[in-house]
Amino acid sequence: MKIDVLTLFPDMFNNIFSESIIKRAISNNLVEINIHNIRDYSKDPHKKVDDTPYGGGAGMVLMCQPIFDAVKALKTENSKVILLTPGGTLYKQKIAFNLSKEKHLILICGHYEGFDERIKTVVDTEISIGDYVLTGGEIPAMIIIDSITRLIDGVIRKESYESDSFTDNLLDYPTYTKPRVYEGLEVPSVLISGDHKKINEWRREKQIEVTKKNRPDLLKGDNGYE
Ligand SMILES: C[S@@+](CC[C@H](N)C(=O)[O-])C[C@H]1O[C@@H](n2cnc3c(N)ncnc32)[C@H](O)[C@@H]1O
Repeated sequence: MKIDVLTLFPDMFNNIFSESIIKRAISNNLVEINIHNIRDYSKDPHKKVDDTPYGGGAGMVLMCQPIFDAVKALKTENSKVILLTPGGTLYKQKIAFNLSKEKHLILICGHYEGFDERIKTVVDTEISIGDYVLTGGEIPAMIIIDSITRLIDGVIRKESYESDSFTDNLLDYPTYTKPRVYEGLEVPSVLISGDHKKINEWRREKQIEVTKKNRPDLLKGDNGYE
């Protein structure tokens, strides 16, 4: 998969993909990530990319021209163009899974007050990473890239993400490692019983228990995971 990011702050992405699983995915050519400065596409002699909003109001608004031109330059017939915006569809693991099957993503990061509404005409989808407002789309882009990359075939083992939280509308089950007792806290005996049928049943029960307690909305199936 190829991912192109359009941002006003490319340095924010320095080092973010240079460790662990994402680093390995890049060096194994399973994902290619390119960071583009929106300013490089500006036709303005001073590389201006934003201006004040029509009708008045606070903040600066990202102009159409640099974004339209950047999308035209990068887009192919296999591209999916995503605008990061608090007003977009709420990002969920199911969306991450679907996006991980795409060939090419172009992520557009807004900043300041936001972007000219007409930019929406060159995007395929709008995504919000949560009901809060960040200073820019850079952190949302990083979150999307990270969550998608681990789901690309060959990056991690399928078994590793198949039991992750949000699969089957459930949160993950509790896990433990050595030692068996730490400061008086014991590992549940079923996990050292060697009985895999019982262990699987216990894990399923715990998944349901923690989901009921922390995220009952997932069990109702009205959350986009069904
Ligand atoms: C300060 S925000 C603009 C907020 C905008 N005035 C609004 O209320 O919807 C600047 C940029 O950060 C990004 N952003 C902020 N919060 C986000 C979120 N929850 N999800 C995705 N992108 C976000 C978007 O690209 C947005 O254009």
